[in-house]
Amino acid sequence: MAIELAPLPLPTSTDPSKFSNFGREVKGLHPGKLTPEQLKEVQEALYKHDALLFRNVIVTPEEQYAFTKSFELQSESYGHGNNKTESTKTSILHPYLKTIPRVPQVQLIGNGTVYNHEGFAEVKLKHASHTSFHKTHVPIEDEFKATRFYRWHIDAALYDLNPPKVTTLYGLKVPMGDPQTCRYDDGTGDELKVSLGTTAFISGQTMFELLPKEYKSLAVRAKVRYAPHPYVWMAPARAMSTGLGIESEGLELPLEELPPWEEDKVKLYPVLWKNPVTGNLHFQVHPCGAKELIIDPLPEDADQEDVLYPDGAHITDLKEVRDILYKMQRPAIAPQLVYPHDWQENDFILFHNRGVLHTVVGALRPDQIRVFHQCNLAASDEPTGPTAEDVKKYA
Ligand SMILES: [Fe+2]
Repeated sequence: MAIELAPLPLPTSTDPSKFSNFGREVKGLHPGKLTPEQLKEVQEALYKHDALLFRNVIVTPEEQYAFTKSFELQSESYGHGNNKTESTKTSILHPYLKTIPRVPQVQLIGNGTVYNHEGFAEVKLKHASHTSFHKTHVPIEDEFKATRFYRWHIDAALYDLNPPKVTTLYGLKVPMGDPQTCRYDDGTGDELKVSLGTTAFISGQTMFELLPKEYKSLAVRAKVRYAPHPYVWMAPARAMSTGLGIESEGLELPLEELPPWEEDKVKLYPVLWKNPVTGNLHFQVHPCGAKELIIDPLPEDADQEDVLYPDGAHITDLKEVRDILYKMQRPAIAPQLVYPHDWQENDFILFHNRGVLHTVVGALRPDQIRVFHQCNLAASDEPTGPTAEDVKKYA
């Protein structure tokens, strides 16, 4: 019997025409108790809809790991490496992820002090706040009324390990409190009303489809080279007010000051990643970690009119790299294109990590307790870029 899927409840801020295919609730099923047939349908639905929600389910860390692993049985290590977030103290991810001792592929994230939880007698969690990462902050008097997108990203180490295919997020305890206004503070006046402690998603497919022809041509020919140990490299730098990349102030850690790294573990990825089920192209760039852009020349028979970098280019100037990416990515985080999930307790979300960008949002007081489990696994293969046919179509 086919699984039952229902559209996700969209907030009034979203443009429903851009979400007709995005997100589904899987009705009446538990992610840890699926038959092989149901599992197959769920997996296919994920790649078609990019995010799936199971509501009101009790899921153990073992079940969460097993379900996440079912998308690729060969994968075993957490997306950033098991227990790696603990050992890499200088990484900007370190303060926010606590590894569950019994199932090291599952991380405890959230806010406030939590007692007797999955092997932790007492653990202090901290919701990531833009004030620790952005160059500018919302005024102190608005601290708990206004917020920002913390950091738009793909869940991926972007060095050595391959980007996970899926991430699962399980909300065990959702903080109570008034909605907040997420400000862009980039001169556009854009803002978005969000529930407290939301997770915001945007579609990488929409990001590509929105682009004018000349930027589609650039995207289909471009690859991003990421910094070695990107989360250590970017640690001293400060992010833009939209959370969509880093301000270019020369604050990144010099390469010679990074932990030891090897050239062949540095990641070079196409800007566009091909969806394995639909064949659609998703604009998948983690803007904070991007260091260089490598652009192929136009194919010989391509139309040369209004084309950027027709002869190809290797752009190493960090500001130029970021400016180009920002121009292409910013349109897709417009308020009407963002899905901010309104978490209920025991919501279990599965998202296509190679098809969406997402971010933490919100400013929580220490007594606003948020307890989530997160799991993703470094994949056994690299994302696939555009085919020769795609290049022909869009270049
Ligand atoms: Fe994430």
